[in-house]
Amino acid sequence: MTGLCEQITVAKRAARRLLPFGALLIAVSAFMGFALGVQAQGPLSDQECLSCHTNPDLAMTLPSGEPLSLYVDAENYHASIHGTLKVQCVQCHTDISGYPHPPANYTDRRDVTLQNYRACEGCHADNYRQTLDSMHQVALAGGNRNAAVCTDCHTAHAVTDPTTPRTRIPQTCAQCHSAISDAYIQSVHGEALFNDNNPDVPTCTDCHSAHRISNPTTASFRLQSPELCADCHTDQNIMSKYAISTNVLNTYISDFHGTTVELFAKQHPDQATNKPVCYDCHGVHNIKSVSDPASMVATQENLLVTCQRCHPDATTASFTAAWMSHYEASPDKYPLVYYVNLFYWILIPLTIGALLIFIASDVYRRVRQRLAAAKTPAIQKDEG
Ligand code: HEC
Ligand code: HEC
Ligand code: HEC
Ligand code: HEC
Ligand code: HEC
Ligand code: HEC
Ligand code: HEC
Ligand code: HEC
Ligand code: HEC
Repeated sequence: MTGLCEQITVAKRAARRLLPFGALLIAVSAFMGFALGVQAQGPLSDQECLSCHTNPDLAMTLPSGEPLSLYVDAENYHASIHGTLKVQCVQCHTDISGYPHPPANYTDRRDVTLQNYRACEGCHADNYRQTLDSMHQVALAGGNRNAAVCTDCHTAHAVTDPTTPRTRIPQTCAQCHSAISDAYIQSVHGEALFNDNNPDVPTCTDCHSAHRISNPTTASFRLQSPELCADCHTDQNIMSKYAISTNVLNTYISDFHGTTVELFAKQHPDQATNKPVCYDCHGVHNIKSVSDPASMVATQENLLVTCQRCHPDATTASFTAAWMSHYEASPDKYPLVYYVNLFYWILIPLTIGALLIFIASDVYRRVRQRLAAAKTPAIQKDEG
């Protein structure tokens, strides 16, 4: 019984604060008697649990030597979604109904979380099932005890809407992915979220989901990633607000790089490709506006460095200049390409058209001749 001596020390400490010195023993036993008495009539009410657990000094020492505070902030709890809906302590703590509690067998602080989080499964079976496929569960099963479970992201006793404000989402992930979160906050997407509370930009869960996080480093995730970006970047309603072109997917796909990725994604969804996807050129968590000098595609120098990752032989600006980026050729951009295209647009239909007219008129002439010949067989015979 690890708990026994702790509970007495704790109760002593609590009692010492509230009562004159001599009344200590009486207070402790009265406390226990009260708790045990209530247990006989069924599980304790929230108020009864809280009568002990709102004591800020209530704590136990775990076998690892770490302290475990047993304080529950009643105000936070009542303000939480579960407190508001009158979910009882014992609906999650199903193994506890009175006092003394059954002995706990935690090894360390993390073990407290890992042994208790499945309490959520009881009412949120769907969310729980989803997390079973998540990268976090994969990591946990592989022995990484730091991978996120329900209460890491939602807390146990202060659960509120995880998306209000929306900046809460990256802040939740930042607890463990701080470098990525820092990069995101400075990206064009993150800046818009944190500065303007912009509802149109993606947060972590738009790209990864919250509960069913798949491995983002696989070939299939990579091949499908252009569609992920295109979801928003081809949406005229969203992009017109920012005067951003919605042509980026079309031009990417018609480009020699994108054509291959597109074909590949359809035919070999799990095979790796060495052709660039959107984030090879723009970055992932650190995407910048193309007019920001820090953008991977902003200046010819940056762009060249970006291309050189795969084209190490490209050393001059002419390499990047020879590529049309997301532009379609026009009289302003790439006029030579535009006029050559235009020339072919006119020349090819003209040539084919002329050819068709020629063939049609030839067929017409022959048919007419045959018909005429059929009508006048005698003359033809004479001639023959
Ligand atoms: C009489 C005071 C008292 C009451 C009432 C009480 N607790 Fe506790 N609780 C403690 C003390 C002391 C500990 C320290 C460990 C122990 O004694 O088991 C503790 C430990 C805990 C723990 C951590 C250890 C474990 O078993 O997981 C949880 C969780 C807990 N209590 C929940 C509750 C809930 C839920 C209720 C209401 C059903 C409740 N307590 C009612 C005093 C109390
Ligand atoms: C929605 C489910 C849920 C409800 C409701 C709930 N708990 Fe908990 N509680 C948990 C989980 C999960 C843990 C483990 C949390 C952790 O450490 O990550 C926990 C841990 C605890 C602990 C151990 C200390 C700690 O914070 O880890 C105490 C004490 C406790 N709960 C008391 C209470 C009391 C008292 C109530 C009612 C006012 C209550 N709980 C209501 C889920 C719940
Ligand atoms: C990695 C962090 C993380 C973990 C782990 C996690 N959640 Fe969530 N959860 C979120 C975020 C963020 C949202 C907000 C919705 C969104 O962005 O998709 C959310 C939304 C929810 C919602 C409300 C919306 C809905 O989908 O029904 C519930 C309920 C929920 N989570 C329960 C759980 C339970 C139960 C577990 C454990 C089995 C869990 N969550 C694990 C981060 C997490
Ligand atoms: C006794 C049933 C019950 C248990 C156990 C339970 N919940 Fe809930 N939870 C609810 C109900 C009811 C709602 C409100 C309806 C809904 O969103 O499903 C809710 C809502 C939520 C929400 C959405 C909050 C919002 O404002 O959108 C989250 C997140 C959540 N619970 C997380 C958890 C976590 C984490 C646990 C485990 C520590 C847990 N729940 C355990 C009943 C429960
Ligand atoms: C409690 C800590 C914690 C929190 C909170 C957390 N994660 Fe994780 N996450 C981990 C750990 C640990 C891993 C496994 C790392 C590894 O295997 O390298 C991981 C892995 C991942 C992976 C897979 C990485 C890979 O290389 O395959 C993704 C994606 C991910 N987390 C996204 C998120 C998102 C999105 C959120 C917020 C909604 C979040 N995480 C919240 C701890 C956390
Ligand atoms: C616009 C979509 C998008 C957003 C927003 C996003 N990610 Fe990612 N994330 C990706 C892609 C794509 C990859 C794969 C990158 C690669 O393979 O180089 C990735 C990779 C990861 C990885 C694993 C690889 C690594 O770099 O360690 C983790 C962990 C991760 N993201 C967490 C997060 C977190 C946390 C946030 C929010 C702060 C977030 N992501 C926001 C698209 C996104
Ligand atoms: C949820 C919708 C959404 C997703 C998904 C998304 N974006 Fe964005 N993106 C936006 C919005 C909205 C803006 C405009 C933000 C602003 O300017 O305030 C933006 C801005 C940009 C910009 C800056 C454009 C400029 O002004 O120069 C680039 C580059 C960009 N996104 C690339 C990507 C890439 C690459 C991906 C995929 C990895 C992606 N985005 C995924 C919504 C999205
Ligand atoms: C080979 C590198 C490369 C790839 C792959 C690429 N881009 Fe770009 N992208 C660029 C360059 C360079 C620019 C800057 C064009 C300019 O000079 O204005 C740009 C500009 C943009 C802009 C800003 C457009 C505007 O109107 O301001 C967006 C948004 C964008 N790209 C999204 C995407 C998306 C989404 C994908 C994938 C479908 C993608 N990019 C693939 C190099 C690339
Ligand atoms: C992720 C790697 C990657 C990045 C980044 C990349 N490319 Fe490519 N690129 C390729 C591959 C692979 C091919 C196909 C080569 C082949 O088939 O021989 C290719 C082909 C080309 C070609 C066709 C001619 C040739 O050499 O076969 C041009 C032009 C080109 N890329 C320009 C660029 C420019 C400009 C950039 C930077 C804006 C860039 N690429 C960035 C991987 C990349």
